[in-house]
Amino acid sequence: MILEITGALDPHVHLRDLDWAHKATFASETAAALAGGYWAIFDMPNTPPATITRSALDIKLRRMQETALCDWGIYFGASQHGNEREYPAIIDDVCGLKIYNNATTGDLLIADQQVREAHYRAWAATNTRKPIAVHAEEQTVADILALVRQYRVFTHFCHISTREEIDLLRAAKVEGLPISVGVTPHHLYLTQDDLGTLGSLGLMKPELKTAADRASLWEAIADGTVDVVESDHAPHTLAEKQSNKPPFGVPGLETTIPLLGLAVHEGRITAERLVELVALNPQRIFGVQPPAGTITRLDLSASYVIERSKLHTAPRWSPFEGIRVFGRVREVRIGGNVVFDGENVRAVSGSGRRAI
Ligand code: DOR
Ligand code: ZN
Repeated sequence: MILEITGALDPHVHLRDLDWAHKATFASETAAALAGGYWAIFDMPNTPPATITRSALDIKLRRMQETALCDWGIYFGASQHGNEREYPAIIDDVCGLKIYNNATTGDLLIADQQVREAHYRAWAATNTRKPIAVHAEEQTVADILALVRQYRVFTHFCHISTREEIDLLRAAKVEGLPISVGVTPHHLYLTQDDLGTLGSLGLMKPELKTAADRASLWEAIADGTVDVVESDHAPHTLAEKQSNKPPFGVPGLETTIPLLGLAVHEGRITAERLVELVALNPQRIFGVQPPAGTITRLDLSASYVIERSKLHTAPRWSPFEGIRVFGRVREVRIGGNVVFDGENVRAVSGSGRRAI
């Protein structure tokens, strides 16, 4: 069965380039996005130079315009040193604001609730409908919900990974707060028990959790608490991951949609729900539409084993290596043009457009 997905959008990826071009480039990872079935990706601000100033944003905008192969958006990052006076001048050029409230790669952590509040207040003052995306774990989820309650800014909770967090967010939705919830394929398919075999390849933030936590994420997909499956694609070289100080993060752009195809095959979700999780819901949350003629053809009957040698992402490794998935991306079209033909990426560097 061929499933047609109109404009798959991954709203949570960490592209690399510029100061981290040794890990990957905008060209290599947007090619990986196309091979993974995506029309567009939204890039997080923590990769150096961090996207927390107008000039850093301009550098990223220019290089993306020149080299990206898929369509894209860029988040602005909230800084602990207070960069909220920049918001009015950057708002039209970004897909949203990212606030890191728990430990992560880079130095964008904001642990002080008063500083978080200053960012919420300033973002609300712009009157934008563009969301704030938050990295929030454990108690921090409740801290951010308090700000959503006060400022009513639409907030996307990234990569939620525990039962307690899911329960808080489910209740917040019942309360009517303007929020959405994302989960990642690694928290849906892996647990801390896999660290024995994965070693440092299983290290990311948030960390892998228990089987009970994992089960709560699938329940939350079934009951509608979860809106988005996002890859949190964060490529690091294999040598870095295998060093004695491995960085956090895993690649995911080419395995997320096939892993959801596996979920359809196993009867965990319907094909319609897959389309909502990777296309319709992220489009709605971020207020973005793909160009006419933008479609991903996913062959749900095709099964294969994930192999690192087949990947387009520059670091060419995957925590899912060896897993049999269902769902091969046969074709991706953007605006009617074939940009991935099931084997090869056909888009050229620089052809990707700003999606928002
Ligand atoms: O594991 C992670 N890696 N979590 C993050 O929040 C950042 C990311 C990265 O950029 O490497
Ligand atoms: Zn992330």
